[in-house]
Amino acid sequence: MSITNFEGKTFNVVTYGCQMNVHESEKIRGILSSLGMMEIDDINKANVVVFNTCCVREGAEDRAYNNIVALKKIKATDKDKIIVVCGCMSQQKNGKYNLKTKLPFVDIIIGTHNINQLANYLITFNETHKRIYDILEEPNASVDGVKCVRDDKTNAYVNIIYGCNKFCTYCIVPYVRGREKSRPVKEIYDEVKDLVQNQGYKFITLLGQNVNSYGKDLDEKMTFSKLLTYLCTIEGDFKIKFMTSHPVDFSDDLIKVMKNEPKVAKTLHLPVQSGSSKVLARMNRHYDIKHYYHIIKKLRRAIPNITLSTDIIVGFPGESEKDFNQTLKLIKKVKFDQIFAFMYSKRSGTPAAEFEDQIDDKIKNARINKLLRLEKIIQKDTIKKYFNKTYDCLIKQINGVAVGITDGGKEIYIPTYRYNNQNYFAKVRVEDIRNHKLSGVIVK
Ligand code: SAH
Ligand code: SF4
Ligand code: F3S
Repeated sequence: MSITNFEGKTFNVVTYGCQMNVHESEKIRGILSSLGMMEIDDINKANVVVFNTCCVREGAEDRAYNNIVALKKIKATDKDKIIVVCGCMSQQKNGKYNLKTKLPFVDIIIGTHNINQLANYLITFNETHKRIYDILEEPNASVDGVKCVRDDKTNAYVNIIYGCNKFCTYCIVPYVRGREKSRPVKEIYDEVKDLVQNQGYKFITLLGQNVNSYGKDLDEKMTFSKLLTYLCTIEGDFKIKFMTSHPVDFSDDLIKVMKNEPKVAKTLHLPVQSGSSKVLARMNRHYDIKHYYHIIKKLRRAIPNITLSTDIIVGFPGESEKDFNQTLKLIKKVKFDQIFAFMYSKRSGTPAAEFEDQIDDKIKNARINKLLRLEKIIQKDTIKKYFNKTYDCLIKQINGVAVGITDGGKEIYIPTYRYNNQNYFAKVRVEDIRNHKLSGVIVK
């Protein structure tokens, strides 16, 4: 049977997890569209449903698993419906759910290393009607070059490095994503150039589990800051963001590039995980809290208006009340623009899962609530710092009103401005803050 079997059929892709997965789903949508299929919103009606899963915490696994199981009934009445499960959860060994045995109604189960082959798997399944279960240990070919169907028309994700070599003791990612592998500079350059010059993208977000490791595995003497500098030579009205950075590899060079290159957005996501050096050591993070404070100080000195966000884990094994209080102290001191806080979730196969001093769920709950309450109070104060400051913004229209989007993603409403259907960068000064909403004017 030929590819035309899928022509005119419908699909839906359900995504869990990080930006990497969001972007991979854009590639999956590209693959399915290239088979002649059309995307629809209703997963109950779609002929092909792909679940692109995440296993970073138990909650992510539960959500995906329950939603997949919810399709079982529909599959029983619509036998031709094809259900695919891919991504980190299927790649995981000894996860909470054994997908192979627990999801017999799922037709194709593949991992993170063979998503690029999805079209072939679908065609084979259509020919044989035999269930496919194929998890590879290593990537067999690159997913790069697959045409993406992107959701967002202003921001485009671009992979620069895959995998992770860090092995933080709590984290499953290195086990499901493999070792670090940088994409060649030329490939990245060409992709960014096309997105900016031919497709009109205004923000490019470079993706990697640890972008600062970029180039370490390449022959050419490449570093992340060199790559950034090179990408800034691309002509056009655009800005570059990147995520995620690890505090260990965060170089002074990179701070310099962030400060000096107008095309590099003045925003940074720098996960700290804990305010306690003792906990950081047991997490295998390779830095202490002093080092982290030092980076923040250098960054703010170089770029006073920088937007900072972070990730925090509460209730890591052995975290004492004193350790936790050091995390509270950290967020009071740094006043991040945004915090993503998570309760520690035991991941089987990671070293921390074997630690004996696991923290009770009740304590984890109490701690995260305390942290979030404090964060709310800090936020009330943090937003005041925007007053009377000027930010380089992308001018867009949201719900009929002109809005300036700062590098850090904050929206500044510009009620006096008539939007002329063109997205462009301009300086916006904040003149009013009400109910957490900023408004201002464009300054020449
Ligand atoms: N590579 C990125 C993102 C990793 S996953 C980084 O290094 O920052 C995103 C976040 O999930 C992490 O920063 C961490 O805060 C959180 N996380 C990872 N494993 C976790 C676990 N087992 N329990 C709770 N949170 C976890
Ligand atoms: Fe996980 Fe640490 Fe790698 Fe981030 S750096 S993906 S937290 S192991
Ligand atoms: Fe989840 Fe995989 Fe990303 S485990 S956080 S989707 S790399």
